[in-house]
Amino acid sequence: MQTAQIESKADFGQIRYAQLWEDADVLTQALGDCQGKTLVSICSAGDNALAMLTLDPQRVVVVDLSPAQIACLHLRIGAYRNLTHAEFLQLMGARPSAQRKALLKKATANLDTASRAFWHSLRDDVERHGAGGVGKFERYFRIFQRYLLPLVHSRRTVDDIFVSRPKPQRQEFLDKRFNTWRWRVLLNLFFSRLVMGRMGRDRAFFEHVEGSPSQHVARRISHAAVECDPAENPYLHWIMKGTHGKALPMPWRKEFFDLIASRLDRIEIRPGSLEAFVSTGETACGYNLSDIFEYMSPDMFAKVYESILNASQPGARLVYWNMMAPRRVPEALQNKVETLSTLEETLKAQDKAFFYSDFVVERVKE
Ligand SMILES: C[S@@+](CC[C@H](N)C(=O)[O-])C[C@H]1O[C@@H](n2cnc3c(N)ncnc32)[C@H](O)[C@@H]1O
Repeated sequence: MQTAQIESKADFGQIRYAQLWEDADVLTQALGDCQGKTLVSICSAGDNALAMLTLDPQRVVVVDLSPAQIACLHLRIGAYRNLTHAEFLQLMGARPSAQRKALLKKATANLDTASRAFWHSLRDDVERHGAGGVGKFERYFRIFQRYLLPLVHSRRTVDDIFVSRPKPQRQEFLDKRFNTWRWRVLLNLFFSRLVMGRMGRDRAFFEHVEGSPSQHVARRISHAAVECDPAENPYLHWIMKGTHGKALPMPWRKEFFDLIASRLDRIEIRPGSLEAFVSTGETACGYNLSDIFEYMSPDMFAKVYESILNASQPGARLVYWNMMAPRRVPEALQNKVETLSTLEETLKAQDKAFFYSDFVVERVKE
């Protein structure tokens, strides 16, 4: 097939999230014992649906409204099948590479024609940024990291963030070296409602949100930089340096690579909405709901929540994040659900994907 022909066939829309910005370590702990059960996951870039395979479920049903996001999962499936772990990291952008185009070809070799065509059309971007760097959200971080951060902090200061040190010294580093007046100006400008809406997130996202994004980000930076150890944080590393260091997101770590690769046939991809899945009459034992509730009005949220409960087995867990819009089990359904508060608190303290303000683990009563 001619290149132009291939490209004109790929019309999946845009990738928003080329990698998962939700911490799979806390997600998998929150889901509990799922051995032999059915799980459901929002796809996004696919990483967390793949991480859920480590729980040894019977299957993970993956849904997403966006064909481009589903294509991210297809790419990963091809990559786990056809690449070594070192090659996988290079393709994704976690490690430097001069051979990403060749790796992309190898990873997509056995995919369906449309997915292959889609990724072929993105080959130059993949070569430059890695497959985990080609989304709108990652582009937003790249502008921040390449053009704005250097106006505020030297390379040495940025590198120093990732030196492991005890908590009191992390606080001192944040107060004395990082949180300068220049940093605060940058934070207020870059994470303003207007700029975030334009460059990273949909404007619609802010319809149900209170407070300023920059105030929220400042609070969460303190969590990531002081409460947690930045040296262990792959998300912070990518934002500040455009790639990963020693720390990797859970499903990208070597110790899980072969296990995930051996269970790929348990992934069941259902392009479309979560609402479509829950109306099929099938039930599940655990849901990774990303932060989709934030995109819904409170009324719509209550309706969708109820339909999820109807598609849940007793004991099923609903796991989700909130960034700025508060969402928890609607009042009218509280008698059907128990909040696992102790587990939530433990996992919130460990959550490395630091921009979320709330992490929710709810369990359907038996
Ligand atoms: C809610 S967004 C959040 C992304 C996330 N913060 C991340 O790090 O990847 C994740 C995905 O949910 C999908 N999505 C949103 N609402 C959905 C729904 N009702 N059903 C299925 N997918 C949905 C979007 O297309 C998007 O790919």
